[in-house]
Amino acid sequence: MPVPLKRVLVFGANSALAQAALRELVTRGASVYCVGRDPARLQAVLADLRVRAGPQRVVAGEAADLLEIARHPALFAAAEARLGKLDAVLIAHGSLPDQVRCESSVDEALAAISVNAMSVVSLLTIAANVFEPRGRGVIVAISSIAGDRGRRRNYVYGAVKSLVSTFLQGLRLRLEPKGVRVINIKPGFVRTPMTAHLPSVGPLWADPPRVGAAIARAMERGRGVVYVPWFWYWIMLIVRHLPHFLFRRLRF
Ligand SMILES: NC(=O)c1ccc[n+]([C@@H]2O[C@H](COP(=O)([O-])OP(=O)(O)OC[C@H]3O[C@@H](n4cnc5c(N)ncnc54)[C@H](OP(=O)(O)O)[C@@H]3O)[C@@H](O)[C@H]2O)c1
Repeated sequence: MPVPLKRVLVFGANSALAQAALRELVTRGASVYCVGRDPARLQAVLADLRVRAGPQRVVAGEAADLLEIARHPALFAAAEARLGKLDAVLIAHGSLPDQVRCESSVDEALAAISVNAMSVVSLLTIAANVFEPRGRGVIVAISSIAGDRGRRRNYVYGAVKSLVSTFLQGLRLRLEPKGVRVINIKPGFVRTPMTAHLPSVGPLWADPPRVGAAIARAMERGRGVVYVPWFWYWIMLIVRHLPHFLFRRLRF
């Protein structure tokens, strides 16, 4: 049964994928509390959403660096103070680390793990403990197809997305019997600022609106794991099962 999404808290609201999802959510009637790191960009995101949402709904938010983990509980409290009891939380921030730099710098690798995994685990844990006693709620995080198998060209990013995916898998088993939905969005290649340095032509590349619509749909329907676009499910099924002697010959 579709879940009504009236009050949604979004972390990483300045990201291209979160913006696309936010547009879908406000168009479908949600009030939203947006947490973005860059204050100026956040104001622009809020202004755009207010135009789309109309006067009936609340569009609010605040700037925060999500590496400041001690601030996380206060961000949930601020969202509920503004919107009322939340229906859903979407976690959509992240960074694409430079794999070569990570190979020679432990600090670089650990920084990627902090932003993509540790801050996400903190937010997921708080969201779980907010929703579990209420027996309802939707928790969504964006991981990636990169987490499905380690590749030589991006195994640090792949490893953090894999951590998030495994965490969500277990969290879903814990919370589903309590009435809380836990959703893992696994996009393929999407044209966003994060991938702007890559050649982004070809049928495997998607644009943010497609992913945003898929996120909003998944939140309403409560599907557990969603590959976006759908064909990545089949590609990654093959990639996961390729034997090592074949996989190592692939140049990616
Ligand atoms: N693009 C793809 O092909 C692709 C594929 C699979 C998964 N994903 C995942 O989708 C999510 C969104 O990425 P995107 O493609 O939309 O990239 P994006 O537009 O570059 O957005 C990344 C966002 O992360 C935010 N961020 C980074 N570090 C932060 C921190 N410490 N605290 C708070 N916010 C922080 C940035 O905030 P500010 O702008 O405020 O600095 C930025 O808006 C990420 O988790 C990414 O890994 C993307």
